[in-house]
Amino acid sequence: MCGIVGYVGSEQVAPILLDGLSKLEYRGYDSAGVAVYSPQHHGLVVEKAKGRLQVLSDMLHGGADLDGTVGIGHTRWATHGAPSDVNSHPQVSRSGKIAVVHNGIIENYAELKQFLEEQGVPFTSETDTEVVAQLIAYFYESEQVDILDAVGRVLRRIEGAYALGILCADAPDQLIAVRKDSPLILGYGDGCNFLASDVTAIIRHTREVSYMDDGEVAVLTREGIRCYNHLMQPIEKEICHVDWEVDAAEKGGYEHFMFKEIMEQPEALRRCIFPRVRDGQVYFEDFGLSDDYLRSISKIYIVACGSSYHVGMVGKYHLERLTRKPVEVALASEFRYMDPIVDESTLVVVISQSGETLDTMAALREAKRLGAKILSIVNVVGSSIARESDVVLYTWAGPEIAVATTKGYSTQLAVVNLLALYLGKLLGTLGEQEYHAILEEMLRLPEKMDQVLTHVNEIQYLASQYFNHDSVFFIGRNVDYALGLEGSLKLKEISYIHSEAYASGELKHGTISLIEDGTLVVALGTYHKLFEKAMSNVVEVKARGADVLALTTEGRREEMAKNATAVLTIPDAHDLMLPSLGVVPLQLFAYYVALMRGCDIDKPRNLAKSVTVE
Ligand code: M6R
Repeated sequence: MCGIVGYVGSEQVAPILLDGLSKLEYRGYDSAGVAVYSPQHHGLVVEKAKGRLQVLSDMLHGGADLDGTVGIGHTRWATHGAPSDVNSHPQVSRSGKIAVVHNGIIENYAELKQFLEEQGVPFTSETDTEVVAQLIAYFYESEQVDILDAVGRVLRRIEGAYALGILCADAPDQLIAVRKDSPLILGYGDGCNFLASDVTAIIRHTREVSYMDDGEVAVLTREGIRCYNHLMQPIEKEICHVDWEVDAAEKGGYEHFMFKEIMEQPEALRRCIFPRVRDGQVYFEDFGLSDDYLRSISKIYIVACGSSYHVGMVGKYHLERLTRKPVEVALASEFRYMDPIVDESTLVVVISQSGETLDTMAALREAKRLGAKILSIVNVVGSSIARESDVVLYTWAGPEIAVATTKGYSTQLAVVNLLALYLGKLLGTLGEQEYHAILEEMLRLPEKMDQVLTHVNEIQYLASQYFNHDSVFFIGRNVDYALGLEGSLKLKEISYIHSEAYASGELKHGTISLIEDGTLVVALGTYHKLFEKAMSNVVEVKARGADVLALTTEGRREEMAKNATAVLTIPDAHDLMLPSLGVVPLQLFAYYVALMRGCDIDKPRNLAKSVTVE
């Protein structure tokens, strides 16, 4: 939620900020703004506009209208105050000397605002962020302290989550960066330095970054970056080299990031799986959980949100099947309020593509507090969840930009499957033969996914038949139910069609009353063991007038075609691979339906890629 970028150097800053923001727009896109120190005006120039970044960029002629070499920029996902020019960031103090960009929520902003208003400070926006700008100015101007000191005083008073970029007109050669519970990275250039919410915004300029930790403050100048801990004591930060290619975060000729990321899945799976199979065994580098500990765990608890939660739903079936340990799956947003039964003998598996989802982070901390060990499955290297876990298994999917996750989901599921194999073998609950059979299938998964992707035209055609439906039901049993949850979320989030996923057996308990002539039902029947049951449900909904689009395996196509209106297939594969293959046609179906409905596929309304508010 919200993207921040900042630059101090010798080049014109506005085009750099606008370019950086264009890479961060997936984090929020209801308005954008920049603040630049202008030598010509001897002060800050702030430009903001409601709407997509393009509006601001056009207004500033790509940045050519603004002169200056130091500045901050922001792309917003509104929390406090509706999207509008005035509520956009940067927020500026009454004096116009302090500009602030913010990602997160200042929870005690109301009381601070009241205090400032009592001191005669007028407010112009409805945002919580304006309080930060005004409060810094209050200390800076009324108590005559230096700007870093004023920021320090504000940090002792504000509560909540925040990544802040701060620019002061009286210190025009520096930026201040602050982080607490919202991501912020520092980028080290040659005669210039950067701050950003995410590496994608600055990778064109530098690959040397450090990840700010909670409570840290940084002062960026052209010469270098000074970092401080929460007590404002100087600290040294580790500088990491980012090794992925710039192209990875570009559309590369595709119309949408989502389509590109769908097509990248086989390659992402190769990167994720192949290095973890050595001499016919699953191998995890730096796996900090001892065999003795793993043998002692009494249960596994998976916590995650959205699609990552759906991976957890599939993961439950796979982990229980291979390890015979009980596995619970909880929505991270519920976990900490449900008094979870978690202790030292619980292994908590946290799944998050971004590694920054606030609810997931809060669940992680709660599980830690209760004594559990945390194993996280994360894509973004160096993200908060990765850093707070006992063990991280990275998915190596590469940057995922589209709000709707695709390769994030597939690679998370691959890691869960590898983990299930690893544990099954260690615990002795999985026979040698089956272990090797599944591992072989995992190595063949990218190739089979390539085959699924050859069905693009067929899926596009089916999307053209159904894109104007108002309501869709996804039904399935067991892993097909979990798969349906993901297919349904994908469709609704990007096409805005009302869609529900049901465990097929539940239909008769209420939902079937909604099925009438022409209702679209996507029936998932990939799981061999339950194929006959899936077929019965197809017959049931068909008898009530539904159009049934079924998904099954190649070997079952003919049988399924006897009852379904249309059939999509995936290659025959081991049970554990079916959700990994089955999700791809559902992603493509959602993509083409949204395309045909003229939706903004990569940036669906009201959403943001990384949900860093509760
Ligand atoms: O970054 P995370 O995996 O923690 O994100 C969790 C959800 O916000 C995310 O999966 C969301 O549901 C996606 N938009 C689904 O496509």
